[in-house]
Amino acid sequence: MERLIYEGNDLAAQANKLEVEAHDSYNVDKYKEAQEKYAQAAEKYHKAMGEIDSEEVRSMLRERVTEAIRRAEKIKGWLEQNEKKLKTKEKQEKRSNGSSKKTSATKPSAAESSATSEKQAAALAANGLQKSQDGEEQKDGAAATDKPENKKVEDPEKEKYRKALTSAIVQEKPNVKWDDVAGLEGAKSALKEAVILPIKFPELFTGKREPWRGILLYGPPGTGKSFLAKAVATEADSQFFSVSSADLISKWQGESEKLVRELFKMARENKPSIIFIDEIDSLASSRSDQESESARRVKTEFLIQMQGVGNDSGGVLVLGATNIPWGLDSAIRRRFEKRVYIPLPDERARGRMFEVHLGPTVHSLTSQDFIELGKNSDGYSGSDINNVVRDAIMQPVRTLQNAQFFTAQMVTDEKTGEQVEKWKPCSPGEPNAVQKTLHDIPSGRLIVPGITRFDFDKALMSVRPSVSDEDISLHIKFTEDFGQEGN
Ligand SMILES: Nc1ncnc2c1ncn2[C@@H]1O[C@H](COP(=O)(O)OP(=O)(O)O)[C@@H](O)[C@H]1O
Ligand SMILES: [Mg+2]
Repeated sequence: MERLIYEGNDLAAQANKLEVEAHDSYNVDKYKEAQEKYAQAAEKYHKAMGEIDSEEVRSMLRERVTEAIRRAEKIKGWLEQNEKKLKTKEKQEKRSNGSSKKTSATKPSAAESSATSEKQAAALAANGLQKSQDGEEQKDGAAATDKPENKKVEDPEKEKYRKALTSAIVQEKPNVKWDDVAGLEGAKSALKEAVILPIKFPELFTGKREPWRGILLYGPPGTGKSFLAKAVATEADSQFFSVSSADLISKWQGESEKLVRELFKMARENKPSIIFIDEIDSLASSRSDQESESARRVKTEFLIQMQGVGNDSGGVLVLGATNIPWGLDSAIRRRFEKRVYIPLPDERARGRMFEVHLGPTVHSLTSQDFIELGKNSDGYSGSDINNVVRDAIMQPVRTLQNAQFFTAQMVTDEKTGEQVEKWKPCSPGEPNAVQKTLHDIPSGRLIVPGITRFDFDKALMSVRPSVSDEDISLHIKFTEDFGQEGN
């Protein structure tokens, strides 16, 4: 069943493959490799989420992300614990051997390393892994213990973070214009105020009048938060750093806070700039009782950076998006000075979305039809409407596949200008109806029926809205407490 869903989405399929490989590596005791593969899988799954509209599939992918991160973090934890044990052992050895044997103590001899390997195996077994370490891991462990903690290693490390970050940054302009975003006028003007004005008219923001430093977009899924951020990236004259929280957490478990620091540093170096963090709840949730040490460190670093203590953070705007704002850590919530509610689209915006999503597809709908579709789709999110339109677009194909009767018609061929016989589906009662199926019609002799209002009405019946009333009430409550309407 999983395969079926992943079909047609390259990223999800790749993620799935990586996850399987991670399992395999784990099973042959290559823990480091398994950890890396799980992390990569999490990242790919998360990216795939961005390409998929169906909330059902997205939530399946979200589960895969969480699971892959959980596994990667767990393995990482084991490996680290192991390393710590090695270090303690060495320190003890150093002390007992005295300072004269310093050099030999930092590098385990062959005999020592086999003892080490046993220790590692014991530590892992004690932690429930119950596997013995292979030679590769052993080497890794020894190398890590050897690593001198001096300034020398800092630069290549930094280089590593920068590389990781650059790969996570969206560099090209996504080509989504303000006008492509239907409705949401309040949100658009708040964003323009924050990203366009300060750069175009810096004289407007002098003295006490400062541009916004942090804006949070929140609302039910599929309402256009990520889409709006794409419009910001396209329309703003700033450097745009777009990172997903899963990128930050999964790639560098335990070191993500350094990545956060680098991210802000890069943004400051490239002013004016915007940092967009999608699904920020996964980076800064308030579930503090079960959170890991590394998650806590990321949150702290994020707070420090957003506060800009000791740093000149003017010219850097942090844009966050979340479907569950009440799950955000309260300190982080406060750092987003402006919190804009992105609600379900209203009637007018929905009508426009039907029209926009249909694009250049041949149809016979009037502007009155679009107005009525807007009226009839109360409760649908932007992405639900996307699905309705996609379903409606497929209706003619279904009609053709199910048709039992066709009627012929003489049509002028566009290329040759000759009259040719073409077929279209019809009801059995029609005067010239011939009983046949789609497969009996020669190639190039088909009249493709245009999309009708009826197709849309049918699609509206079969695609149900994905956002629940409870979800909306939670958002309204949050807005009353902390937010601002973006409609
Ligand atoms: N206001 C809108 N105007 C136009 N399209 C929209 C709007 N809201 C949602 N959509 C459509 O739905 C898709 C999903 O929206 P997205 O921005 O990913 O939602 P989320 O709020 O969950 O981030 C978009 O790619 C876009 O096609
Ligand atoms: Mg989104």
